[in-house]
Amino acid sequence: MTDKQQQAISALSWEERSFPPSPEFVAQANTGPSIYEEAEADWKGFWMKQALERVSWFKKPTQILDESNPPFFKWFADGELNISYNCLDRHLETGGDKVAFYWEGEPVGDERVITFRQLHEEVSRFANALLGLGVEKGDRVAIYLGMVPELPVAMLACARIGAIHSVVFGGFSADALAQRIQDQEAKVLITGDGAYRRGTVFPLKTNSDTALEACPSIENVVVVKRCNNEIAWTEGRDHWYHDLIAAASSENEPVAMNAEDMLYILYTSGTTARPKGVVHTTGGYLAGAVATHDLVFDIKPDDVYWCAADIGWVTGHTYIVYGPLANHTTGVMYEGTPDFPDKDRFWQIIEKYKVTKFYTAPTAIRSFMKWGDHYPKGRDLSSLKLLGSVGEPINPEAWMWYHAVIGNERCPIVDTWWQTETGCILITPLPGAVATKPGSATRPFPGVGADVVDDQGQPVPLGGGGYLVLTRPWPAMLRTLYKDPERFVSAYWSQVPGQYFVGDGCKRDTDGYYWLLGRVDDVMNVAGHRISTTEVESALVAHPKVAEAAVVGRTDEMTGQAIAAFVTLRAGVVGDEALIKELRGWVGEKISPIARPKSIVFTDDLPKTRSGKIMRRLLRDISEQRHLGDVTTLANADVVREITSLAQTSTKED
Ligand code: WTA
Repeated sequence: MTDKQQQAISALSWEERSFPPSPEFVAQANTGPSIYEEAEADWKGFWMKQALERVSWFKKPTQILDESNPPFFKWFADGELNISYNCLDRHLETGGDKVAFYWEGEPVGDERVITFRQLHEEVSRFANALLGLGVEKGDRVAIYLGMVPELPVAMLACARIGAIHSVVFGGFSADALAQRIQDQEAKVLITGDGAYRRGTVFPLKTNSDTALEACPSIENVVVVKRCNNEIAWTEGRDHWYHDLIAAASSENEPVAMNAEDMLYILYTSGTTARPKGVVHTTGGYLAGAVATHDLVFDIKPDDVYWCAADIGWVTGHTYIVYGPLANHTTGVMYEGTPDFPDKDRFWQIIEKYKVTKFYTAPTAIRSFMKWGDHYPKGRDLSSLKLLGSVGEPINPEAWMWYHAVIGNERCPIVDTWWQTETGCILITPLPGAVATKPGSATRPFPGVGADVVDDQGQPVPLGGGGYLVLTRPWPAMLRTLYKDPERFVSAYWSQVPGQYFVGDGCKRDTDGYYWLLGRVDDVMNVAGHRISTTEVESALVAHPKVAEAAVVGRTDEMTGQAIAAFVTLRAGVVGDEALIKELRGWVGEKISPIARPKSIVFTDDLPKTRSGKIMRRLLRDISEQRHLGDVTTLANADVVREITSLAQTSTKED
């Protein structure tokens, strides 16, 4: 690409470091490079093979992909299965006593070890309890819980009887809960008395009671006792979970579901607009979940696998519950935050359970960097064999830190790109087959079609940047938005004819590696150059004194937009005028003078969504001194006040 301005998004900097898998890793890996050619030769056949070999069907599918009514695709549409059967029953004969979850509560010393057999029994009982409450196939059940074992039990019990579950993150407010229950007209709500979060009790039941004042569809509420906090009780409507379990039979036959029957609705946390109810179905979703979980994390029978996400997000659905359980994998499930009681809690858990595969988010990794190396270094992390990242672009320096300090330069890193909508990982290294590069999600998973296009929807040649699109349907794809097929078409299928528009910027290097550049809405336009926030942020994070950075474009008379940076420094570093100058110069050198931030504000923290994504929209509002609106959905609302006052007194350069 010669003329940079022709690019939909400028690709400004390139990373040269590359890490091929070690010969020892390759020798034991579940798959090698030939899987890509095999899948390319017949991508539909490849997915059919995954579905037939990895999923247990009550009735095997004969149809692969139904493309008769795009974009409403169907996969394996004449197959019948039950996903709870796949996660539980099918393992009982050969491995019922294997541990399904090592559950670690937030209060130190709270722990439970749950085998597949025990999980099967509890799910069967709870399935019967739900039937007793009048829940029928196709009914919606809302789940609002912390990270307790009853959360996967509730999901699997719904799946077992054909009810559609919708998990609402257990840190959301009563309003957010009410809005989601209303949209799906759920019949039952499963919640708890409270949830532990950083040493305090979050009032799940009180919030539920408030929400339910506006939710007439709810007939029954099931309450898990966890924190013993005081709660109000509505006789007839409210039931203790433990009472229902004690009274229910442990015999329950899983119902046969059509592959295209709905499994769950998960609302994506939009920043402004009404949340979208993403719909996933049963057969294709499970095929995608088990294949990606096995191949991306190189799963072995003796693994202790820990995905540190919350089950309230899609990452927890696919890679704590459905993928690992269906693959008969032992998982760790942790209730609390990484800094409670101290900032080494994650490393203590890895040491305690001898975790082999660990999957977390860049936002967490940058926090660990900020807190300092002595926390992980004080713990034995030698059991680790592979590390994963998801949720945001991982800055190359955060990747290098993860590689060196957590992985001890031994563990492959899988940077996995996907979305709530995609259901499973779609762009990722296969750890025994692909050399990784810090900051790149590398290449599409076998069978997946992806491309980078410009404003006209034309493919951008290698070496350029633009918009990521998916060119082929895939089994775990969302089928629609709940009760809103028009929005499904307009949000994802109307930008580029026949292709799924992801909404992320992306560049590809000359090896064809994919480098995600953040959400398209976040792209800045500086003097006619469309610059991704990710590239500038990564340049800042590459400075040894910087832990985390967010940049936004704010209106500027001269250049259209100017780059405003918000920077969190590493522990012990003081931010002053000299450092501002140094950082501006650094970015100019690292990527380009046009990408130098015009202003830099030092702050202790950045505003983030509850799933850890930086809220750039809010930073734009702060930079342009606009009214901020509701900030209660943020994970850390306090920081907004701090940044607002800092931004008003900050030095504006040039
Ligand atoms: C971003 C989370 C870069 C991206 C599974 C996507 C990533 C959005 C990556 C979906 C990654 C996720 N590299 N960006 N490895 N993974 N994203 O729905 O912008 O919570 O569109 O799903 O997160 O977020 P969601």
